[in-house]
Amino acid sequence: MTSPLRRPLLVGNWKMNLTMVQSIELGKLVAGGAGAASGEVAVCVPFTAIAVVREVLRGTNVRLGAQNCHWEVSGAYTGEISVDQLRDAGCQMVIIGHSERRKLFGETDESVNRKLGAALKGGLTPIVCVGETLEEREAQKTWRVLETQIEGGLKGFAPADLSKVVIAYEPVWAIGTGKTASPAQAQEAHLFIRSQLKKIHGESFSAGTRILYGGSVTAENVDSLMDSADVDGALVGGASLKKDFLRIMGFQTAR
Ligand code: 13P
Repeated sequence: MTSPLRRPLLVGNWKMNLTMVQSIELGKLVAGGAGAASGEVAVCVPFTAIAVVREVLRGTNVRLGAQNCHWEVSGAYTGEISVDQLRDAGCQMVIIGHSERRKLFGETDESVNRKLGAALKGGLTPIVCVGETLEEREAQKTWRVLETQIEGGLKGFAPADLSKVVIAYEPVWAIGTGKTASPAQAQEAHLFIRSQLKKIHGESFSAGTRILYGGSVTAENVDSLMDSADVDGALVGGASLKKDFLRIMGFQTAR
């Protein structure tokens, strides 16, 4: 039986989209659908929208998050934003190590690890992203890549520190491509990730940690993805900017 700690979590990653007015509108749409959701709901919005979306979500159970943070608390880091600033602005979560940040902005397992430490210390729920590229999958390197990312990202923390951590498996080849992992592919990778969590911190940590799937999740495929035993939720890009996200929030499974 799935651990009660693994309540399904549906997260919208708005990426670098939307003006403040558009963010308010979308925030209202999500808040309006929260009552019919099949799990916890969160939106990770652009920095500029945090303050206004916070107001829209006030009094609802939709959680608010950001898409990146720095590991230092404050200082001379032009263009960066700290966990304390995010929390002060109203965030409860933060995405760390998204593949777009790894690929385009030089994020490494080491920086992921430092950011994770900052998020945990600052009281934000971290969503740590891992996932292989198409090249790596085709070269049969998927498991090695996931193992390295998990080990390097989570290194140095005790299981108690990591009790809030959420992992997102986002195969890079499925992001924004319309090419979703099949439920069997997602389940296989999630099971592998869970086995790595067990290797690091044992059975109860592994069984209680949520692993989300991300990569072309839509209103049409969410039910079958969520049917997989080790898929505990979804991290949604493109479809989280549309009404479709309401259907994703209200996913239905046979399990
Ligand atoms: P898409 O849902 O647009 O494929 O993006 C997934 C993603 O990167 C979520 O973080």
